[in-house]
Amino acid sequence: MPEHVPTSPRLTFRRMHAGDLDEMAQLLGDPAVMTFYPHPKTRDETADWIRWNEDNYARDGFGLWILHDADGGFVGDCGLTWQSVDGEQHLEIGYHVLPARQGEGLATEAATACRDFARSRGVDWLIAITNPDNVPSQRVAEKVGLSVWKRTVADSGVPIHVLATEL
Ligand SMILES: CC(C)(COP(=O)(O)OP(=O)(O)OC[C@H]1O[C@@H](n2cnc3c(N)ncnc32)[C@H](O)[C@@H]1OP(=O)(O)O)[C@@H](O)C(=O)NCCC(=O)NCCS
Repeated sequence: MPEHVPTSPRLTFRRMHAGDLDEMAQLLGDPAVMTFYPHPKTRDETADWIRWNEDNYARDGFGLWILHDADGGFVGDCGLTWQSVDGEQHLEIGYHVLPARQGEGLATEAATACRDFARSRGVDWLIAITNPDNVPSQRVAEKVGLSVWKRTVADSGVPIHVLATEL
């Protein structure tokens, strides 16, 4: 069956799999990328992350996708996953870009493509969950049309700002 994935001018999207462990561990094990997470992910935790996305593709037809540039260079991940906010499930847009590739507008480009992918599949409400201090993440969400919807706490108890938009 063909893989349905977003498309964008500078990036290619594809599903992640176990063979991506080295690059994904480099991304999610980077302390700068994981500043607003409890801690950088270990290799085992990154393998869990890949399996979580494989389950998402199987159940939903989407998840976080691997991003490559036109030269085939690994850039990061971006995509759509179901997340719980105040006990309700919402579709979230998420993104992680290697530090060396930040500031090129790539997260904004990828998130725009994922927003359009969601819209084309009939999704009518999209959120982004951010740490209150994660300005880059909030800027990406704002640039693809989301605005602050609620300030609340995650299931883990940490404060979060949730941006959202109707599609
Ligand atoms: C959030 C993240 C994906 C943005 O990636 P990026 O490719 O650098 O983003 P873009 O180049 O598309 O920039 C988007 C906006 O954020 C702004 N921005 C980026 N880094 C910034 C920083 N350190 N401080 C303030 N603004 C910043 C950009 O200036 C731009 O806004 P502008 O056009 O108004 O200037 C990247 O910083 C990252 O991977 N962070 C760690 C992972 C993370 O926290 N992900 C979100 C949680 S799911």
